[in-house]
Amino acid sequence: GKVAVLMGGFSSEREVSLASGAAILTALKSRDVDAHAFDPAERPLSDLVSEKFKHAFNILHGSFGEDGVVQGALEALGIPYTGCGVAASAIGMDKFRSRLIWQGVGLPCVPFIVLHDDSDFADVEAKLGLPLFVKPAAEGSSVGVMKIRQTGELAKAYQQLKQYHGEILAERAIEGGEYTCAILGEEVLPSIRILPATDFYDYEAKYHRDDTVYLCPADLTPPDEQHMRDLTARAFKALGGRGWGRVDFLRDADGTIYILEVNTVPGMTGHSLVPKAAREIGLSFEDLCVEILSHATL
Ligand code: DAL
Ligand code: MG
Repeated sequence: GKVAVLMGGFSSEREVSLASGAAILTALKSRDVDAHAFDPAERPLSDLVSEKFKHAFNILHGSFGEDGVVQGALEALGIPYTGCGVAASAIGMDKFRSRLIWQGVGLPCVPFIVLHDDSDFADVEAKLGLPLFVKPAAEGSSVGVMKIRQTGELAKAYQQLKQYHGEILAERAIEGGEYTCAILGEEVLPSIRILPATDFYDYEAKYHRDDTVYLCPADLTPPDEQHMRDLTARAFKALGGRGWGRVDFLRDADGTIYILEVNTVPGMTGHSLVPKAAREIGLSFEDLCVEILSHATL
């Protein structure tokens, strides 16, 4: 039956979603899937029913598409969709509430402090140490992330980030290495190490620069690789995840691994990570798209 590739949308990651969606459309069509682009910013989701779409491949990143809103609408319309359900999506988009759950089941998270208008910013800087990161809890692709290097900068950064919806988090800078692990169905894929040429893996490094180095397989010892894959499965399961996703990690100089966040609608652009991990286990981009679609459910 007809498949809608939900792409674009309203979030700060709209452009990323359009790039992900274009790649997925091409891949699905090459496998004779009757796939069509569908941008909820241009037409109502109810068109999915009137136009007799049978499945939705959701590649809407960020708010509206990755946070349970579209998932709830698809549930109500009765259209099976890829990826996580309503609750896992809503919690996964929110770095604060995901971490509360992970801490609750004893999983190691990056140390963070939630900021408020009356926070003692100097105390937060002292507790987390400098440099530190400050970020909106519910954005993706590093949108809004700032690195704070000097005492006194945090308060200013907080004022700038207040425009974003949801909590604002100050986070310890873990300077060892950045890693990510994809999950596809029940299988955790090999980890990837990310070596940005910039100071950190920001939006530019993610989508515009060609000098980020990706190691897959990563540089972990077999026990550490196993540990990261276990953490991936447990973190995803703790949120009630299903279908596919990606968990991001930081590793400190002593080798301790911390969960950073989950992405329930990971990027699928030419620069993106899940396709790299899939290739490592012999899955082409086309195979990967077909596999993700095969897990679509209500
Ligand atoms: N939020 C972007 C799309 C990612 O995690 O890949
Ligand atoms: Mg993210």
